[in-house]
Amino acid sequence: MVCRGLRHRFGDYVAVDGIDLRVTSGEVFGLLGPNGAGKTTTIRVLNTLLPVQEGVVTVLGHDVGRSAMAVRRLLGYVPQQLSIEAALTGRENVTWFARLFDVPRRERRARVSDALDAMGLSDTADRLAGPTRAA
Ligand SMILES: Nc1ncnc2c1ncn2[C@@H]1O[C@H](COP(=O)(O)OP(=O)(O)OP(=O)(O)O)[C@@H](O)[C@H]1O
Ligand SMILES: [Mg+2]
Repeated sequence: MVCRGLRHRFGDYVAVDGIDLRVTSGEVFGLLGPNGAGKTTTIRVLNTLLPVQEGVVTVLGHDVGRSAMAVRRLLGYVPQQLSIEAALTGRENVTWFARLFDVPRRERRARVSDALDAMGLSDTADRLAGPTRAA
């Protein structure tokens, strides 16, 4: 992974201000910094969850700004907090990811069901993903 001059703004606020990094194959890399330093924003750009606004990022030979889908197919990302949408059902959450990964619309329903089956989640897939509140 190579990252040159990566800069990311939320509105006028500069959250990542020109990062240069090179992480080689097989290397274990830790990105440390104080709260709000821009670590999560950086990782989200690297794995295509945020757009590359400024700078060049290459992951496994692919330009992240131009070939987001190729990068998504090669990367795994385990965030600190689970990125599921509590207000959607499990099935709707998985469908969202299927869309993210360009699973063709006509195959989506079946492949989402297969994935839920494989995880043993079919029985609960149509309940809301978030915690149920006591009445
Ligand atoms: N979606 C957003 N909209 C506006 N500002 C944001 C957004 N996401 C992050 N920020 C701001 O950008 C800055 C960097 O945030 P980021 O989450 O990348 O930091 P971090 O290094 O991961 O912090 P932490 O150690 O707390 O996880 C912070 O000031 C944060 O408030
Ligand atoms: Mg963070």
